[in-house]
Amino acid sequence: MDTNLKQWIEVDAFFTNQLVNEDANLEYVKQNSILNDLPSMEVSPLQGKLLSIFVRMIQSKRVLEIGTLAGYSTLWMAESIDPDGKVVTLEVSKEYSKIARQNFKFAGLEDVIEVLDGPAIESLEKLNALNIEPFDLIFIDADKKNNPIYFELALKLIRDGGIIIADNVVRNGAVCDPLNDDLSAQGVRDFVCAMGRNSKVTATAIQTVGSKGWDGFSIAIVSK
Ligand code: DHB
Ligand code: MG
Repeated sequence: MDTNLKQWIEVDAFFTNQLVNEDANLEYVKQNSILNDLPSMEVSPLQGKLLSIFVRMIQSKRVLEIGTLAGYSTLWMAESIDPDGKVVTLEVSKEYSKIARQNFKFAGLEDVIEVLDGPAIESLEKLNALNIEPFDLIFIDADKKNNPIYFELALKLIRDGGIIIADNVVRNGAVCDPLNDDLSAQGVRDFVCAMGRNSKVTATAIQTVGSKGWDGFSIAIVSK
């Protein structure tokens, strides 16, 4: 365990207590996840609020999320979206998407949030083939080994000036080690390199500490 983890948790708790009010819908997601033994890999409350701020900063009407889990980050974004906006979220696990749908119904947001079941690559390719209206913001938070392909497909689905955010880009430091053969580490590394090489993408990545340990996220703005 990180020697400083206790302090990171204490500071996260202070910031969360002062700054974040999880509403009943977000609390319900957590309770329902525990009840159904879903993994607790969701973003922290502070990170959820950061996502909601990003959604509001660009007055998002259309958000795409890759990796729903129980829908905790989905709800943070859906609750902050323009009143006639929409969140599309992709989930490969039927077990997770069933719980997520319950959670969205509890929140009364089942008409705002659309869950697409199945492997995200297939759903992204379908959305691309449908020529749908592009998204303002895309949040990548699924199996990390596929980040490079999620990024390629996200570039096709994002609007000019839209934002692509990815969670968990640090992998305990393995992201910067080209010899690390962990597929998740390779996935986030190749993804970061692809963002850096792409002249249409202006990107940065930020390391974080907190209740989820040492991690980080990337954010990119796309000029088409
Ligand atoms: C992992 C995935 C996540 O989305 C997360 O927030 C933390 C860890 C993982 O696959 O290890
Ligand atoms: Mg994550």
